Amino acid sequence: MSDISTVLQEHRVFAPPPDFAKKAHIGSLEQYRALCAEAAADGDAFWAARAKEELHWQTPFGQVLDWKPPHARWFLGGTTNLAFNCLDRHLPKRAAQEAIRFEGEPGEVRVLTYQQLFEQVCRLANALKALGVKAGDRVGIYLPMVPEAAIAMLACARIGAVHSVVFGGFSAEALRDRLADAGATVLLTADGGYRKGAVVPLLANARAAKAAGIPTLQHTVVFQRLPQAPALVAGEHDWAALCARASADCPPTWVDSEHPLFILYTSGSTGKPKGVLHTTGGYSVWASLTTRWVFDLHEGDRYFCTADVGWVTGHSYVVYGPLLNGTTTVIYEGAPTTPGPDRLWQLIAAHQVNVFYTAPTAIRAFMRLGDEHPRKHDLSSLRLLGSVGEPINPEAWMWYRDVIGQGRCPVVDTWWQTETGGILISPLPGATPTKPGSATLPLPGIFPEVLDQKGNRVEVGAGKLFVTRPWPSMLRTVWGDDERFQKTYFAERPGLYFTGDGARRDADGYFWVIGRVDDVVNVAGHRLGTAEIESALVSHGKVAEAAVVGRPDALKGTALVCFVTVKASVEPSEALAAELKAHVAKEIGAFARPDDLRFAAALPKTRSGKIMRRLLRDVAAGQDSKQDTTTLEDLSVLAALRQDDE
Ligand code: WT7
Repeated sequence: MSDISTVLQEHRVFAPPPDFAKKAHIGSLEQYRALCAEAAADGDAFWAARAKEELHWQTPFGQVLDWKPPHARWFLGGTTNLAFNCLDRHLPKRAAQEAIRFEGEPGEVRVLTYQQLFEQVCRLANALKALGVKAGDRVGIYLPMVPEAAIAMLACARIGAVHSVVFGGFSAEALRDRLADAGATVLLTADGGYRKGAVVPLLANARAAKAAGIPTLQHTVVFQRLPQAPALVAGEHDWAALCARASADCPPTWVDSEHPLFILYTSGSTGKPKGVLHTTGGYSVWASLTTRWVFDLHEGDRYFCTADVGWVTGHSYVVYGPLLNGTTTVIYEGAPTTPGPDRLWQLIAAHQVNVFYTAPTAIRAFMRLGDEHPRKHDLSSLRLLGSVGEPINPEAWMWYRDVIGQGRCPVVDTWWQTETGGILISPLPGATPTKPGSATLPLPGIFPEVLDQKGNRVEVGAGKLFVTRPWPSMLRTVWGDDERFQKTYFAERPGLYFTGDGARRDADGYFWVIGRVDDVVNVAGHRLGTAEIESALVSHGKVAEAAVVGRPDALKGTALVCFVTVKASVEPSEALAAELKAHVAKEIGAFARPDDLRFAAALPKTRSGKIMRRLLRDVAAGQDSKQDTTTLEDLSVLAALRQDDE
């Protein structure tokens, strides 16, 4: 018996459209399998070839991999620079080509060519040097989604400084914790940013964070985003003035392949956030390669990923991956529904976007808002659609394909993590037949396995998801806590990377990631991924979104509690609750009939859109939560859920 049972079976398969496959970088399953075989036969040779193709190395590397589990070092002795690879390498050929195409929430458009981006990065890099920043020093970045966020990251990379981007939606307290842990000496921020028609008070938060104590912090550089220039105090510098004074000539600092590139904080199920550390060479190789493979970028493409640079997706697939490939990356500052529910579709039409990458939570939200909004806009420029962040339920996948992609665009469901640095499991759009809800197959060079509780390989069935061989963009450690790194990722099975996710492999070897293993519930002896029950609920025509948790139950061990938000036109009722319970029983089986079904106006989510099931578990159990709520987007949602309870 396997450890995790799965019950939803999805049988639809979509082959890559022949036209698409013809032009794709990887255009057939044979080509994909040949690359996989090459990597399996001789990993060192495979990775050495990829590393040389993807990057300029100032000093060639010698040994490809030094693997002393759990510590990996890649491309030993090689030196390179990520900013050089994103910018200088494209000049003068792409000098006049658009690197960044930006639209602010208020609607202004700004375009930076590769030449202009290069100059701005060099100026800021020199300005940072003038403030005393040296290779290895940590620089905090707390900015809205404006081109300066990318400029800031690239300027750090250019001089070998280690950036730590903190999402602009985080509070002063969360910012303080992260900057203090990283030991940042300089903070790059802005006076504010625009979101949902309001101003996010970034500078006020940055000041409060500093006041709360960041012992290492010496300088704050403030980009002026708002109309009124802010009055700066001691230790604060005006971004534009610093850059105007700085030279536009800044030779890259060649750093060792294993030189730290960035620290990015990510939450675990317990304790304070972990500072995931990525290093230069391996991360850059994989960001570059996966962006081209998975998004099948071609000359002149406009590529739009809706992630914020505060998340790893913003690092790898808004900034570094697209720029390494010489693509135009579209950056949008604001909320997806401001000023109206069609903002993203308007952006796609206005900027003639070819490749679009977003999250299931957004897709479900748009589904709920209604098809009339995308239908108002000309989406014919789109060629490919991507999804990332959580399991995408088949209904949302189909809607994305049919309504946004108009049945024409392949959908790539990309599985990866902050820790993996880049995409590990995903269709290659010109090669892999897709199944709605499955991230499909591992990319060449990646060796995931599903293992049961005893550590045996599950050929077909569910279990825990591991990656059994190191890959170049894997995290190197948890900043300042190597023991936590070992315990979190390598204690489960020594030498194997544990993802924390549960997954199912089907008879075709396809992976169906079913969510974090701490999001599984044990129902009548079956450990079910809550995502599957949620998916069953959302497949009902009246449901917009659902979250399912377990509640300790004296009789059954665990009772299933479902939180459901309904579509805009639907009235919650007792009758509907009964209907939905019956629907789950029909879709999954009577054993999975929910014990309790509650309607909610909204579900508690992190700022990156993940449903916070650990909070719902406490609500379901009628307990006061002692959980960390600092990543919760909207505290009032939780209060409302509690009230319903009384
Ligand atoms: C966790 C990682 C990777 C960038 C965004 C999230 C879940 C991510 C998928 C997917 C099913 C997914 C996993 C993973 N996840 N992508 N395509 N299908 N689950 O980064 O915050 O580090 O979260 O997100 O549970 O472990 P993150």
